[in-house]
Amino acid sequence: MTIRAILHYPDKRLRVPGVPVTEFDTSLGELIDDMAETMYAAPGVGLAAPQIGVSKRVFVIDIATSDDEPSDLRVFVNPEILSREGEISFEEGCLSFPGAREEIKRAERVRVRALDREGKPFELDADGLLAVAIQHENDHLDGKLMVDHLSLLRKRLVHRAMHKRAVASA
Ligand code: NI
Repeated sequence: MTIRAILHYPDKRLRVPGVPVTEFDTSLGELIDDMAETMYAAPGVGLAAPQIGVSKRVFVIDIATSDDEPSDLRVFVNPEILSREGEISFEEGCLSFPGAREEIKRAERVRVRALDREGKPFELDADGLLAVAIQHENDHLDGKLMVDHLSLLRKRLVHRAMHKRAVASA
């Protein structure tokens, strides 16, 4: 397993939509293992393939963040959000926006259909943090980012902060 480099906003590759996965082979397995390793190392609660420059419809989530909780890795390949209900406002972060935390409104509950790493379909009802994470990561697969949910003013502030950071670390 390899820890991959995470792309940071405003890297244009984050805007490239993922293509559906068609081969459930060892290279997909390696991609998923690398994504999990990269997410845990960051650390973060979710990571989508476009965030490491791989334009595929795959994301991983583990919302068990405290050290005494057992890991709860969930893998979603070619996911589709079937329904959304309610509304929840949550302060979100994103590994592609280091240091940024923004309040974002999303559906409180979602039903999602996806394939696992072997290509086996499953459906899942999620609420709370898991529902938020699924919607956040699913956005990445369409090239959509956290800032796209913000007001123009907040978007500008985050944009400027990320640019300053990029210049400072360049
Ligand atoms: Ni993100």
